[in-house]
Amino acid sequence: MSRVVVSGRIPADGLAALQEQHEVVSWDDASGMPRAELLRRVAGADAIVSLLTDQIDAEVLDSAGPQLKVVANVAVGFNNVDVDACKERSVVVTNTPDVLTDATADIALGLILMITRRLAEGERVIRNQEPWKWGMFYLLGSGLQGKTLGIVGLGGIGAATARRAKAFGMKIAYSSRSGPKPELADELDATLLGFDELVATSDVLSLHAPYSPATHHLIGAEQLAAMKDSAYLINTARGPMVDESALFKALKSGQIAGAGLDVFEEEPAVHPGLSELDNAVLLPHLGSATVETRTAMAMLAALNTNAVLAGQAPPNPVT
Ligand code: DGY
Repeated sequence: MSRVVVSGRIPADGLAALQEQHEVVSWDDASGMPRAELLRRVAGADAIVSLLTDQIDAEVLDSAGPQLKVVANVAVGFNNVDVDACKERSVVVTNTPDVLTDATADIALGLILMITRRLAEGERVIRNQEPWKWGMFYLLGSGLQGKTLGIVGLGGIGAATARRAKAFGMKIAYSSRSGPKPELADELDATLLGFDELVATSDVLSLHAPYSPATHHLIGAEQLAAMKDSAYLINTARGPMVDESALFKALKSGQIAGAGLDVFEEEPAVHPGLSELDNAVLLPHLGSATVETRTAMAMLAALNTNAVLAGQAPPNPVT
């Protein structure tokens, strides 16, 4: 029997799909397996099922040992896994694409509505029992109709966000490091722009590229200065794609109109100034947080694990 270490709590269906075939070492505490425990428990593992909060690096791989065959990350992003170190050790890395596309796009659209229509600000007024009265100029936001949504990275989640935004009357533009996406562009009537032009012309700029050294601080002081002062930044991808200090300054000075963030540079820490700004909407990485999606993610990670351990090609290898 193979030994599978699951580094944190995952939905029961996914755990059961692993337990049917393997000896599974699981972890029930919702806060995740502490690093020292992970290093200890992976010893002798054939598979590690990891969460995005676990750094799966050379130290973890070496603690597991040479029999380790697969790291199945329960996320579409896999920047927490040292893919090169895995390759060097012939360890397959898998992720969970597609199943979280709609849930994440829903959150991106939710953030767009929250920040442009000042929903969180309004909710705070009621919740804090502040005095208020309907007024012609009270808590005015910005409409989406006819505005341009700039999608950085027109993959599955970017396209799903664009589809939703089109239903709100937005025009779609996109930039793509991997080149034009003619079929999606056709479907969405989307215009391909260079990254700099996209940044400078979008009314709402939404990040959907994978995080890597190449996209670290993709949005920094220079890009924020180039954005329209009426523009909004949305990040549901990975926090370190945005220079959070530069964003704080841009929001505080009114260089851009607002930001909706589901991810943070040093998660779970958040730049302390951001929570004091009314023009920032901040969510605790909820992109894939639905019962259905998390179940599907766990099931897919189990499928990937089971395939590799059965000597078959997994459905979702990352390279
Ligand atoms: C992912 O899968 O990468 C998401 O960030 C999880 O919410």
